[in-house]
Amino acid sequence: MGLSSSLKPYFLLLFVCSLNVSTINSTKPLKEEAVLFGGKFPALYVIGDSLVDSGNNNHLETKVKSNFPPYGSNFEGGKPTGRFSDGKTIADYIAIYYGLPLVPAYLGLSEEQRNNISTGINYASASCGIFPDTGKRLGKCLSLSVQVDLFNETIEKNLKKKFKTNSELSKHLAESLFMTAIGVNDYVFFYNKTIDANEFANKLLHEFMIQIKRLHKLGARNFFINNIKPLGCYPNIIAHTVPRGSCNDNLNLVISVFNAKLRRSLSHMKHKFSKTSFLYSDYFNFMLGLRGPSSNQATSNLLNTTSPCCPNVYDGGLTTSCTPGSTSCKVPETHIFFDPFHPTQLVNLMYAISCFQERKVCHVVRDALA
Ligand SMILES: *[C@@H]1O[C@H](CO)[C@@H](O)[C@H](O)[C@H]1NC(C)=O
Ligand SMILES: *[C@@H]1O[C@H](CO)[C@@H](O)[C@H](O)[C@H]1NC(C)=O
Ligand SMILES: *[C@@H]1O[C@H](CO)[C@@H](O)[C@H](O)[C@H]1NC(C)=O
Ligand SMILES: *[C@@H]1O[C@H](CO)[C@@H](O)[C@H](O)[C@H]1NC(C)=O
Repeated sequence: MGLSSSLKPYFLLLFVCSLNVSTINSTKPLKEEAVLFGGKFPALYVIGDSLVDSGNNNHLETKVKSNFPPYGSNFEGGKPTGRFSDGKTIADYIAIYYGLPLVPAYLGLSEEQRNNISTGINYASASCGIFPDTGKRLGKCLSLSVQVDLFNETIEKNLKKKFKTNSELSKHLAESLFMTAIGVNDYVFFYNKTIDANEFANKLLHEFMIQIKRLHKLGARNFFINNIKPLGCYPNIIAHTVPRGSCNDNLNLVISVFNAKLRRSLSHMKHKFSKTSFLYSDYFNFMLGLRGPSSNQATSNLLNTTSPCCPNVYDGGLTTSCTPGSTSCKVPETHIFFDPFHPTQLVNLMYAISCFQERKVCHVVRDALA
């Protein structure tokens, strides 16, 4: 830990400095690449779960909330906002990258504010998923189809006031970016070893693509799609593996079945819909990569790969989560995970760098048949 703490300031500085977007040169002349990586999007609309929830669950009757300390300890001077991290989420860094304001939670906005906003709205809701029943055991949340319903409502009630003509509105929608990060909770709540991984993935993907097509029908043309995280390496799972701390490779394999199908499916949709672009973000391999070369060894010397920052002592028990009474680690930047289910701000920043600058994580989806 001595090495880790003495290197930390440099480590942080390195990442902060390298998020200087304007210095990035496009290496490929492909137009779509230029648009998706450098595009001037007028708005970012966010669809997802707790990875990107920016406060919707604050307004819902549920146990799954994070609007209390120690959440947000690194957010704009220490504000718990309902983000499930010590600071910014990947949706925040994506907004920053594209020069947009951080995207506010839909349920936190007044009707007046909704009428006035044209830089994007966040509909993401912790504990929810693609299937309508996912997460509902823990309380209310906004499922994927409900999030799309709400976006439709935003168009009908709010954006039509802001954009007076149909062509202005269509232009806004066609130029905006639609980001998704959802699906892991469907595995958390509904997958078990007795279920065929292929069948489960097909069903889930079918539901997901229905909603992507609805967004397309509403006018969305630019998509930023995150695949599903390697749940098998998360603290809540690896607290129970043998040897303790090793990943559940089986669970990761089951999820990678979905991810492979997702990528193919987007490629086919790309073929079917002209003038539609997809950025596929391999969040799965980004998170896996942070553990080092082997999923069974946590080899990072800089970051604690196995235990969350909050709670400080974590045994993987069903009731141990990060609560208002929890003691957390002193320096979240020494951990991959802020709580048992979500990464720290530092990791979210590293994701943005890997996605946009190194371009290792995010790829433009090509037409399957071109
Ligand atoms: C509308 O948005 C602008 C900036 O986009 C802001 O300056 C103004 O205060 C907002 N008005 C209301 C009523 O929210
Ligand atoms: C696994 O899921 C199936 C389908 O939902 C359910 O019928 C079964 O009881 C579950 N098995 C276990 C061990 O949880
Ligand atoms: C959006 O809402 C309108 C009006 O309620 C409805 O007619 C339309 O079918 C909806 N579109 C989608 C894609 O859900
Ligand atoms: C990770 O953190 C936990 C709890 O804070 C601690 O017990 C464990 O030893 C740490 N692991 C490493 C590799 O530093």
